[in-house]
Amino acid sequence: MIMPPENTPQGFLAVPAENRASKPDPMRKPNLNSSPADGLPGLERERAWVTIDLNALAYNVESLQRWVGPRVELMAVVKADAYGHGAIATAKTVLAAGATRLAVATLEEGIELRQADIDAPILVLGLLQNLVQMQIAVDYDLELTLCTLDQVERLAGAATGSDRPLKVHLNIDTGMSRLGVPWQEARSLVQGVYAQPTLELASIYSHFATADESDSLWANRQHQRFEQAIAQIKSLLKSLDRPLPPLHMGNSAAILNNRIFHYDWVRPGLALYGLCPAEFLSDRLPLKPVLSVHARVAQIRTIHPGEGVSYGHRFVAQRPTQVATVSIGYADGIPRRLSGQLSVIFNDQLIPQIGTITMDQLLLDVTDAPDLRVGNMVTLLGTGQYSENLAISAQDWADTLGTISWEILSGFRHRLPRVILPAT
Ligand SMILES: Cc1ncc(COP(=O)(O)O)c(C=O)c1O
Repeated sequence: MIMPPENTPQGFLAVPAENRASKPDPMRKPNLNSSPADGLPGLERERAWVTIDLNALAYNVESLQRWVGPRVELMAVVKADAYGHGAIATAKTVLAAGATRLAVATLEEGIELRQADIDAPILVLGLLQNLVQMQIAVDYDLELTLCTLDQVERLAGAATGSDRPLKVHLNIDTGMSRLGVPWQEARSLVQGVYAQPTLELASIYSHFATADESDSLWANRQHQRFEQAIAQIKSLLKSLDRPLPPLHMGNSAAILNNRIFHYDWVRPGLALYGLCPAEFLSDRLPLKPVLSVHARVAQIRTIHPGEGVSYGHRFVAQRPTQVATVSIGYADGIPRRLSGQLSVIFNDQLIPQIGTITMDQLLLDVTDAPDLRVGNMVTLLGTGQYSENLAISAQDWADTLGTISWEILSGFRHRLPRVILPAT
């Protein structure tokens, strides 16, 4: 798709005629499964939208693959609707760019990918407890995380009658204290799996708690514990005459942090989407942000000194002020706590947001941007139209809010239509 110039004097007419929706057919039944985020065809860029640059995504995959080398496989983490980027388009792009497998958090996320005809191996990272869920996972050829002995029999039961063994991935808790078998007990779980003919141990993994911290004390400790557990498992497998399955530990930070964390597979999430997990790792790898957020100006008016703006009048004009209303708000993924601390980009100018961000709109002080017109596009996350040096990233928002870029990105899931720029 070729992007038309966004900020034409005509504003809303910036969407080319061929992209506009045809007249609605009054007989057409509404699609109850569609969500607002699907957008109306041709009208995605009328109000506010997210642009997903699949070229950037493919670039990040290739960059990561170069970094880890050809012998290490990428398991792309596409949970939470691919961190707000759209799971299906993301999954297809990362696989085409070289990732060999996918990871999701929930059964439903895995099913969504299978229903989109994605046949790569998919690991569900979350723990399924319910037998019916496990059977559904078997039906959809999803691979499951294994954490407890008690789960082994249920998983084996769920796979009974299936024409292929259920692939299970043993999660060892080495210090995250979230999911997984304690590293001291991992060996007995492996023994349990090999006692079940309907199960296949597809990999053994662990997850870091602090790989994004410059102090590597805990990351190294977790690595050592993993090594200890693997040594015990190796001796067991030797006695059973079985090979060691693939091992993996590395999230984005660990991948960038230390090559000893790479093992056979790595599990990047954030880095796929073009963000660096920590400042001290920022010079390791060139990455390009995949997601940008844009919205149009709905109305512009002048208010007099002393007039307040938006709920609670948290901004009061000190001078005659041109106020622009932009059609995007906290229900679209713009954190309300950024009120009064946000800037947007118009062409190559930064414009301050004023007053409280509301559910569907936010306000700008455009007194010093006389060229801005109703219908123009402003960029909330992304770069300037003419200069890539002017950029606002999810990390900037996260820093302001005292949170992490993962949370910001995964907030763009519900309402904004996605404009996908295909990989070329
Ligand atoms: C088990 C597991 N592996 C890998 C990842 C990817 O992490 P990151 O986005 O930091 O690369 C996550 C994300 O939270 C995860 O839970």
